[in-house]
Amino acid sequence: MIKRVYLDNAATTKVDERVLKAMRPFFLEKFGNASSQHILGQETGMVLEESRGIIARSIKARPDEIFFTGSGTESNNWAIKGIGLENLASGKNHIVTTKIEHDCILNSCGWMGEQGFNMTYLDVDEEGFVNPEEVRKAITEKTILVSIIHGNNEIGTIQDIEKIGEICRACGVYFHIDACQSYTKVPIDVRKQNLDLVTLNAHKINGPKGVGALYVRRGTKIAPLIHGGKQESGMRSGTENIPGIVGFAKAVKISGSRDIRKMTRLRDKLIYEISKIPHSKLNGPRGDKRLCNNVNFSFEAIEGEAIGAYLDVNKICSSTGSACSSRSLAPSHVLKALGLSPLNLNSSMRLSLSKDNTDEEIDYVIKTLRKIIFKLRKISPFKLK
Ligand SMILES: Cc1ncc(COP(=O)(O)O)c(C=O)c1O
Repeated sequence: MIKRVYLDNAATTKVDERVLKAMRPFFLEKFGNASSQHILGQETGMVLEESRGIIARSIKARPDEIFFTGSGTESNNWAIKGIGLENLASGKNHIVTTKIEHDCILNSCGWMGEQGFNMTYLDVDEEGFVNPEEVRKAITEKTILVSIIHGNNEIGTIQDIEKIGEICRACGVYFHIDACQSYTKVPIDVRKQNLDLVTLNAHKINGPKGVGALYVRRGTKIAPLIHGGKQESGMRSGTENIPGIVGFAKAVKISGSRDIRKMTRLRDKLIYEISKIPHSKLNGPRGDKRLCNNVNFSFEAIEGEAIGAYLDVNKICSSTGSACSSRSLAPSHVLKALGLSPLNLNSSMRLSLSKDNTDEEIDYVIKTLRKIIFKLRKISPFKLK
């Protein structure tokens, strides 16, 4: 008996029981401020550094290169604004990014534009890939930063960050990736991939909401965004969210290749079966260049909002696009960048998996979705051949 199928894990995930258990003592017994001198403070101070070490090892960074923040949004804002403002005096005022970034990058870049920075928004191909050669061509002597989303939150495209990293390093430009969706799903090696800044967060990987981190390569010139009591080596003030950080580290520790294999199998089952529905179109690539938990389809001439509403009635949580913009009826900027036809643009549905989804749930979703699409096609004013 299906109770509810949650397939909106790209928006957020359920906190894993083991994560919750690890966090609990830090609310009730070990609640000291990590900056306090007394024993409770020392205890949380130690746990803070252990957690930093876990995050650092997971991306092959040094612990002193990891700074905890309050979210992926904050880390992305910090990367863009902190690099831009700190390096402005050197005469560099140009930032390169793409048209398929998360809103927190696009809106940070928009704000930087208002402050006098110049932006380049790179196009992507029909599967959402950035051409590394286009990155090279966009870099000028004024460029300070290239910022690229690693795994796309809407269509799951995984970019060739190793190649782009090589280009940025050769041109002497900082390279930032937004890894909120790819973290623990796609290997990140900051040295091998020439990464200077990496945005991470906890709530996409069965950790708590409201915790993020920014990896900043040693020696990178970046201004702090939040000033105060000089926590996080003076780079991000504010009392550290110890329960959240402990939960973040635990979520990283329990993530593993078995979960990735399971999500990949369920993803491919969904893609295979949904592709059989007439006039359905997979958005984003197939195979290992797609996030293991992402499925995104357009169903020509059917409103994505209607599909979502019918799925919801049938106890299936899905999304039309990114969670942050799904309340808006404007077509997704990511799908627009792929060059989708108008009939496909507003007809998208995203299903995003977690390690907890089952075959039974996926079979139910396929069966239910098929019925919904046939029903909506019957009442659609567009008659397709
Ligand atoms: C790619 C990407 N970047 C950034 C964010 C923002 O992260 P947070 O929700 O932690 O602010 C998200 C979450 O929706 C995301 O998917």
